[in-house]
Amino acid sequence: MRTCLFLSSAIALVALAATTVDAEKTSTKVSSYTVPNDENSASGYFTLIDREIQQDGTRLCSILDRGETQVFRNLWPANRSGDRIQVLRRNIHDESQHGVSQSHEESSFEKVKDMFELNTNSKEWALMEDAFLDDECDQVKDETLNNSVDGDVDFQGLTAGLGSNQQVFGNSGAVSGLLEGDEVRKLVDNGPDKNRVDIVFMGDGYTLEEREKFFADIQRLVNDMFIGETFQSFLPLFNVHALFRPSKESGIGVNGHWKDTSFRLYRDGTELRGIYVANPRAAREACRAVGKYACDFPSLIGNDPYYGGLGGEFVISTSSNKSGTIVLRHELGHSLINVGEEYDGGQVYSGVNAERWSIQNIKWKHWLTDATPREEKNVLRAQDYAWYDLKKGPYKVKFNSDGNWKRWSLKISHSGVDTDDSFEVYLDGKRLNWTSPGGYDRDFSEWDGDEGFSAGAHEIEFRQGAKYDDEPVDESRPIRQLCSVTMHEFMGEDQYRFDNSVISAYPTYDLYGRKTWRSNHEFCLMRNMSSTQFCSICKEGLWHRLLSKASLLDEIQVDCQREGDDDEDEKISKFEIEAKLIPLGQFREDQSKRVKGEAYTFRWFRNGIHQAELDDQTRIEVPATDAGIWEFKAEFTTPEVRKDPRGLLKASKVFAVAKHLCSN
Ligand SMILES: *[C@@H]1O[C@H](CO)[C@@H](O)[C@H](O)[C@H]1NC(C)=O
Ligand SMILES: *[C@@H]1O[C@H](CO)[C@@H](O)[C@H](O)[C@H]1NC(C)=O
Ligand SMILES: *[C@@H]1O[C@H](CO)[C@@H](O)[C@H](O)[C@H]1NC(C)=O
Ligand SMILES: *[C@@H]1O[C@H](CO)[C@@H](O)[C@H](O)[C@H]1NC(C)=O
Ligand SMILES: *[C@@H]1O[C@H](CO)[C@@H](O)[C@H](O)[C@H]1NC(C)=O
Repeated sequence: MRTCLFLSSAIALVALAATTVDAEKTSTKVSSYTVPNDENSASGYFTLIDREIQQDGTRLCSILDRGETQVFRNLWPANRSGDRIQVLRRNIHDESQHGVSQSHEESSFEKVKDMFELNTNSKEWALMEDAFLDDECDQVKDETLNNSVDGDVDFQGLTAGLGSNQQVFGNSGAVSGLLEGDEVRKLVDNGPDKNRVDIVFMGDGYTLEEREKFFADIQRLVNDMFIGETFQSFLPLFNVHALFRPSKESGIGVNGHWKDTSFRLYRDGTELRGIYVANPRAAREACRAVGKYACDFPSLIGNDPYYGGLGGEFVISTSSNKSGTIVLRHELGHSLINVGEEYDGGQVYSGVNAERWSIQNIKWKHWLTDATPREEKNVLRAQDYAWYDLKKGPYKVKFNSDGNWKRWSLKISHSGVDTDDSFEVYLDGKRLNWTSPGGYDRDFSEWDGDEGFSAGAHEIEFRQGAKYDDEPVDESRPIRQLCSVTMHEFMGEDQYRFDNSVISAYPTYDLYGRKTWRSNHEFCLMRNMSSTQFCSICKEGLWHRLLSKASLLDEIQVDCQREGDDDEDEKISKFEIEAKLIPLGQFREDQSKRVKGEAYTFRWFRNGIHQAELDDQTRIEVPATDAGIWEFKAEFTTPEVRKDPRGLLKASKVFAVAKHLCSN
C-alpha cells in the first residue's frame, strides 16, 4: 500500500520531465522520459550562526547568513516523519588560538568559537531558528540586516511577521552575483551540482595578470587532494569550482592589515599561522553566485607562498606548494566531516573521531582491532605552542619524568630555517641531529628514542645557528621561528602500539590537559599533518556526511520502444528502464580507484512485487504489458562504512511506467 502514497506525485513529476529523444535504430522509434530522484530537491532554508563564548561566559551569536538551500537528504525520509531540523556544527580551527606559551599563560583568555548551520525544509523555520537562538545564545546580533542589495530592504528580520517566512528568506535571492572580471571554471565535474557536494575555491590577492597562476595553483591543490589520495575514493561525489576575481594588489596582508584585495585576507603578524578574512560578505556573495547548488563548501586561497589557514565558515589556505595542501585537507576535514582535532594541545575534541567519556562504549567500537577496548599508554611531558622568534635567543622547554616509561618522541614545527646550520636542538645538553627540510615554509621535524627518561628534570633547548646571530633583519622572508613542541613518553609496544594499522583508544590531551581518545597512533591527517589519509572512523563519517547531501541515485530514465513507421499506427512494444547512479563500485570509471570490496546491489519491484530475475542490473527491458508502478532500490556497500544507521548508503525511487508518458 505504500506505493499508493507516491502515485500521484510520481506521475506529476514524470509528466513534467517528459522529453523526446531521436530514434536510435531505423526500424524502431524511441521516445523517453526521465524521473529525477527528487529526494533532495525539496527546497529548504539555512541559517549560519557564529557563536563566541566571551570571557564572562556570555554566549554571543552572530547570524552571518541566511537563505534558501537544499535540504539535507536525511532530514526528509521517504515517510516524511523524520527530523525536521538539522544542526550542522562546523568546527572552527584557529591556529592563532593555540599557543598560550608557558611564559604568557596568565595574560591570555582563549575564546571558544563555534559555528552552526541550521538546515531544514520546514515552513516553521523562523520559529525553529528562534528556539535554537533562545537555547544556545545569550545575545544575538543579526549581521544579515545589512545585506540588502541596492537599498532594497525586503528583508523583514525574524521579529517581524513570523507568519510570512517567505519574506524572511526572500532576500538571499537578490545577491548581487558575479562581478565584471570574475571567471568561474568547473575543475571537477561529476554531475549536477544539486546531487553532488560542491567545493568553491576563491582566490585572494591574485591580480588580473595572475589569472592563470590562480587557475594553475587551484588545479595543483585539487590534483593533490581529490585526484591524489585524500579524497580519492569519494571523488565521484564532488564537484569543484574555481572562482577568479582580480585583486588590485598581489599577495595577502600581514601585521593585521589587509591589502586591496577581493576578500582581504591577512595574517595578524608575520608568523606562519592563522589567516583571516576581512571581507567575508564579499566571499559569501561570490560563492553563492557560482550557482544555486554550487556553494556547499566555500574555500579561500591566498596568493602567498607560505603556511597558514583557518577553518570555519571558509576553509582558508594558501597557494604554498609545500604546505597549501597540508593545511587545506586538514581544514576541509573539519568542515566536511564532523571531526575534531587529533593532535595534542588544540581546543575542539568532538565529533566522530573523539571519545571523551567511555572506553567501554567507545564511538568506534565497531572498528576496534581488539575484541575488548583498551587504552594505549602514553604521557604528554611537554606541550608548547611557542611561536618564538629564535633571533631573541635560545628557547628552553623543561619537563619532568617519573622514570617509568620505555620510549619517547619529540615533535616540533618550525619556519624560516632553510639551511642545516640555521637551527639547533639539544636534549639534556646533547645536540640532536637535524637537517633542514629546505625553504622558509613551516615544516615538521621529529626525533624518537627507545629508552625512557630517567626520573627527574629534563630540558630541551632550541636556538638558531650562531653564525646568524648578527644577521640584519630581512622583512621579505619569514622569521626563524620555533612554532610548536610536543614531547611524549610511551610504554613498550605491548602497551602502546605505534603500528598505524591498529585501531584502539589513544590518549589526546587538549590545551588544558583534558584527555580524550582518538583511534590511531599517527595515521590520521587530523593528527599527523604529513599524512595524506583520514582514519577509518573519519572516512566513515565523511561517507555519512556526503551522502546526506547527495543521493546515490541521480535519476531513472525510461525509453519507450515503438514499432511501425506510421505515427498514427505506432504502438509501444517495450520499455527500457535505466537507473543512473553516482559511479561508485563497479561503475567507477577508473577501476584502479575502486576500494576493494566496494559494490552496488539493486532490486526492482513492479506493483510492489519483487522482480528477482532483474536484480543487480541497472538497465532492464520489459514488455509493454509490464507497465505499472515500479520501484528501484539500490544499496551501496564499502568496507569504509561499517554502520549506516540512517540508511544513507541506500537510495530508492518509485515511478510510473506507462505508455501515455512516452511523448509522440
Ligand atoms: C519513518 O521514519 C522515521 C525516521 O527515519 C522512522 O523512525 C520510522 O520508523 C519510519 N516509519 C515507517 C512507518 O517507516
Ligand atoms: C550595518 O552597516 C553599518 C555601516 O557599515 C554598520 O555601522 C553597522 O554596524 C551594521 N549593522 C550591523 C547589524 O551589522
Ligand atoms: C615552490 O615554491 C617556491 C617558492 O615560491 C619556489 O621557489 C619553488 O620553485 C616551487 N617549487 C615547485 C616544485 O613548484
Ligand atoms: C647523527 O648523525 C650522525 C652522522 O650521520 C650519525 O653517525 C649518528 O648516528 C646520528 N645520531 C643519531 C642519534 O641519530
Ligand atoms: C605521519 O604520516 C606520514 C605519512 O603517511 C608517515 O610517513 C609518518 O610515519 C607518520 N608519522 C608517524 C609518527 O607515524
